[in-house]
Amino acid sequence: MLEQIQEAADFIKRSMHGQPTVGIILGTGLGALAQEVDAEIALPYSMIPHFVTSTVEFHNGKLILGTLAGKSVVVMQGRFHYYEGYGMQQITFPVRVMHALGIRTLLVSNAAGGMNPEFQLSDLMVIEDHISLLLPSNPLIGHHQPELGDRFPDMSEPYSPKLIDMAYAIAGEAGISLKKGVYVSVPGPQLETKAEYRMLRQWGADAVGMSTVPEVMVAHQMGMQVFGVSVITDMAIPKTLEKADIQKILAAAEAAEPTLTTLTREMVRRL
Ligand code: HPA
Repeated sequence: MLEQIQEAADFIKRSMHGQPTVGIILGTGLGALAQEVDAEIALPYSMIPHFVTSTVEFHNGKLILGTLAGKSVVVMQGRFHYYEGYGMQQITFPVRVMHALGIRTLLVSNAAGGMNPEFQLSDLMVIEDHISLLLPSNPLIGHHQPELGDRFPDMSEPYSPKLIDMAYAIAGEAGISLKKGVYVSVPGPQLETKAEYRMLRQWGADAVGMSTVPEVMVAHQMGMQVFGVSVITDMAIPKTLEKADIQKILAAAEAAEPTLTTLTREMVRRL
């Protein structure tokens, strides 16, 4: 894998000037930030050695290299999911490549179902912690390569408290309201039953989605500082649960895009 990581990183390096410092992964329906990036080049995943391609129709699969708020960034517009049939190593490969490019800060976003009754549609939930154990596998399983981090990586604080504080400071100044909570990752692609939402809530999760945790585990294993935010795109409350509607989910994500974009841009400025 190390060779493949290096090949992909070398390919990307040849396409950009300067040293990228921040990696950004944009979640479902949350691609608007990409327009804020002064893009040097956008590489379709299919062009990059050893990248798989994103099969979800509303995820644009490309890697955008450019500047945001004066910083050199690498943005994944569209990510890979377990439910697409990819392995955990394939899903998280781009994060390993970002690290090989010298990136040490990762900002991730996703669309998630809100199980905390205090949440509302299109709220931004800062991810304080996560639950990985419901995923059928994880990217840290398998042959251990010490170059990529510890065999038994610590997960006591996968989300950087410093970056969470920074997000709250920015939100205060910009008049953005933030929620905070625990994100649980499930394999998907089906949405949850009422019984499953009830269980996940009782197990301590505030929001549920089908991504993010594998990437964060890998980033944290490699010592990157991570900030994650979920956009609440549907209310996952058993008593009032409505039929899942992907169009409504995308609309709720779109409504949150301006605030998420402001938050992300200002964080990158201060990094
Ligand atoms: N469950 C799982 N994934 C999701 C949800 C949900 O309710 N909403 C958006 N992604």
